[in-house]
Amino acid sequence: MSYASQTLKERIKRDGRIDGEVIKVDRFLNHMVDPQLIDLLATDVATHFAEKSIEKVLTAETSGIMLAQAVAGILGIPFVYAKKKKPLTMGEHYAAASYSFTKEESTTLYVAKEVLQARERVLFIDDFFAKGSTLKAIEEIVKQAGAMLAGSAVIINKSTRRDIYSILTLEELSSTGQ
Ligand code: G4P
Repeated sequence: MSYASQTLKERIKRDGRIDGEVIKVDRFLNHMVDPQLIDLLATDVATHFAEKSIEKVLTAETSGIMLAQAVAGILGIPFVYAKKKKPLTMGEHYAAASYSFTKEESTTLYVAKEVLQARERVLFIDDFFAKGSTLKAIEEIVKQAGAMLAGSAVIINKSTRRDIYSILTLEELSSTGQ
């Protein structure tokens, strides 16, 4: 396990809680936020994607934003967060619906056309990957823009999909060894 993975696992054991499939991380990741931990996780993700010619990081409001900003900062590229409510000032845009199984509600993600260009190489970032509905909506928006999804990275992958880069999988988190 990488240093980032071990540090995160220890932090979840110390300050978080695992309730079946729900991992509580409100004290360091998605309510109160530890910027040093975010920087450590971002360095791991940015190193992994350093040679992939990523041009833009794309995430969705809200909890993906901290990691997305940190990764984009290290890679020296901009990041875009898809909005869950269309601002009155947003002109032409891409939009895709995403159903959250955790929250049992459907949300639409909006990205203004002016911030996502055709053929741009995009890295999707989020805090959790659960059922993949956020990624599906992001894939739809990337397709609408004619851009390219060059990779996906999350902090914790709760699914069995292994084509998504993650700091921790649920098995790694649940295993007693290092
Ligand atoms: P999916 O996009 O992969 O399908 O995931 P799902 O719909 O199941 O998850 C929706 C929301 O629930 C996401 O937040 C995600 O971050 C959060 N979530 C999923 N699993 C966990 C978990 O184990 N612990 C915690 N703390 N959160 C989890 P969101 O709806 O995008 O809202 P926001 O918090 O980013 O605003």
